[in-house]
Amino acid sequence: MWIWALLIATIFPSITQGAEPQKNVLFLVVDDLRPELSAFKGDQTIVISPNIDQLAAKSLVLKSAYVQQSICGPSRTSLLTGRRPDTTLVYDLNTYWRTAGGDFTTIPQYFKENGYRTAGLGKLFHPGYEASRNDDPISWTDAYYHPPDKKFWATDESWKAVTEAEYQANPLPDTQIADEAISRLNDMVSDALDGTQPFFLSVGFHKPHLPFVFPEEYLDWYPESDIKLPDNPYAPVDMPDAAWSVYGELIAYTDINNLLVTGDINTTIPDSKTIELRRAYYATISYIDGEIGRILEELEYLGLSNNTIVSFFGDHGFSLGEHGEWCKKTNFEDAVHAPMMLHVPGETDGGIVSEKLIEFVDIFPSLVDAAGLPSLELCPEDSSNNATCTEGSSFLPLIDDPDRTWKSGAFSQVQVRINGKNAMGYTIRTEDFRYTEWVRFNTKTNTMNWKQVYGVELYDHRIDPKENVNRATDSNYDTDIVTLSTMLHQGWRYSQP
Ligand SMILES: *[C@@H]1O[C@H](CO)[C@@H](O)[C@H](O)[C@H]1NC(C)=O
Ligand SMILES: *[C@@H]1O[C@H](CO)[C@@H](O)[C@H](O)[C@H]1NC(C)=O
Ligand SMILES: *[C@@H]1O[C@H](CO)[C@@H](O)[C@H](O)[C@H]1NC(C)=O
Repeated sequence: MWIWALLIATIFPSITQGAEPQKNVLFLVVDDLRPELSAFKGDQTIVISPNIDQLAAKSLVLKSAYVQQSICGPSRTSLLTGRRPDTTLVYDLNTYWRTAGGDFTTIPQYFKENGYRTAGLGKLFHPGYEASRNDDPISWTDAYYHPPDKKFWATDESWKAVTEAEYQANPLPDTQIADEAISRLNDMVSDALDGTQPFFLSVGFHKPHLPFVFPEEYLDWYPESDIKLPDNPYAPVDMPDAAWSVYGELIAYTDINNLLVTGDINTTIPDSKTIELRRAYYATISYIDGEIGRILEELEYLGLSNNTIVSFFGDHGFSLGEHGEWCKKTNFEDAVHAPMMLHVPGETDGGIVSEKLIEFVDIFPSLVDAAGLPSLELCPEDSSNNATCTEGSSFLPLIDDPDRTWKSGAFSQVQVRINGKNAMGYTIRTEDFRYTEWVRFNTKTNTMNWKQVYGVELYDHRIDPKENVNRATDSNYDTDIVTLSTMLHQGWRYSQP
C-alpha cells in the first residue's frame, strides 16, 4: 500500500501533502513475564515498572489475555502465525511449524509482504535451527540481530546481581538488544517520517527468564522485608496428578539442586530461597522495564511515537511458588495468563482497560487492522494449505467499547506424559471458571481422545481466584461442568465474539 502512497505522492505532491505516513510497529516481547505489573494487578504487586506503566496509560490494556500454550516455542509460534497449537503442530521446543503444521505466514512476514521494512532483534521465535531455522529468515528484510557475547552472562546459579563494574565491562544481553533497537530506530526514522517506508521493529528481551541476572542496584528497589511468600504453597485440593509439572528447569541450577529439591507434589522450595527468587524475579522485571524505557524515549525523541503502534506482551505466565509450583508448562492461571497491551496512536491515547477474554492468537489480526493492512480472514477447519488466515479475532472493537460482549472462552493446552503415555491438557477459561481435561493424545495423528481421561479440574474464579480447590467432583457444579465440557470439546470456533 505504501508503494501506491509513494507513487501518488510523487505524481501529485499537492494532493498528498499533509497525508499521514503509514503507521510503524514496535513489537516488544518479554520472556516469562507474568502480569506482575501495576497495570494488571494495581497495588496487589510490589513490582516497580514506571516505563511499562507509562505505556499502559496510553494503551488498550488487556487484563484477561491467555496464551495458547505455556511454553516459549509453542506459544510464540502460535501467536506469530495466528494459529493454535493443534494447527501449527508445535508442542515442544524443537519443531518448525513450516514443516509440521504448514507454511504459515508470520506477523513480520505479512508486514514485509505489505511493504514494511522488518527487523528482528533478540528472542522472538524460539531460537535455533530446529525450532525456527534460526529466526525464520523469510520474515525479515534486515539482518537478524543477536548480542554477540550473550553467553557471557550464563550462570549455574538461579540468579545473579551484577555489579556496575561488571556490566560496564560486559553489557548484559538485553542492554545490548536495547542499544541495537535504538540504533535501528535511528536508521529507519527518516524513511518512516517522510512516508518512504514504514517499519516493523521486533525487540525480544530474554529476561526475566531464568537465570535472573540483573544490575545489582535493582535489589535496592525491593527490600527483602517487603517480599512475601505465596499464601498457597500447596497443590489444589483434589488436584489430579496429571496437572502437576516438575519444574526441572529451576531444579537444574546448582543453588536449587543443593537444597535437594524434588519438585514433587506438595513439596516446594525452602522459604528463604523462595524469597530470594521472588526478589530477583521482581528486580529483573524492573531492569527490563528500564531497557524498554530507553527504547520508548528514543521513539519519542525521534518524533515517531505519534505514528508508531506499540505492542507489548509476555510470552506466557510464570509460577513463583503458588501451589508449590514453579516456572511454566502447566494449565494453571499463573502459567497461561500473561500481560498484553497495545498502543495505537490517536486511538488509545487516553488509556483503555478491558477485562474481556483475549487469546494470543488475536495479536496478529489486531495488529494488521491497527496498521490498516488488508484484514485477515478466519481460517477454514483445515488450513494446512492456507498460508495467510487467522484463528484469532481482532480485538480493536474493544477500543471503542471495552465492555462489549466478547469471547465466551479462552483456550490453552499443554502436552505432557502421564504414566508413560502421551497426553494433552486442554483448558478453557470463561469469565467465571477454569475447566481442564487431561486426555490421551495420539502424537502420530495429532488427535485427542476425549474418552480416555486422566484428570479433570474445575476452579471457580468467583470465589477461588487462586485455584486452590478443584471442584470437578462437587455435585453443586454438575450443570456447569456439562456446559464447560461441551464448550471445551466444541473448541474455539464456538466461543468467538
Ligand atoms: C496437597 O496438599 C493439600 C493441602 O494440604 C491437600 O488438600 C492435597 O490433597 C494434597 N495433594 C496431594 C496430591 O497430596
Ligand atoms: C506527529 O508529531 C509531529 C511533530 O509534532 C507532527 O509534525 C506530525 O504531524 C504528527 N503526526 C501525527 C500522525 O499526528
Ligand atoms: C484460505 O482461507 C480463506 C478463509 O477461509 C479463504 O477465503 C481462502 O480461499 C483460503 N485459501 C486457500 C489457498 O485455501
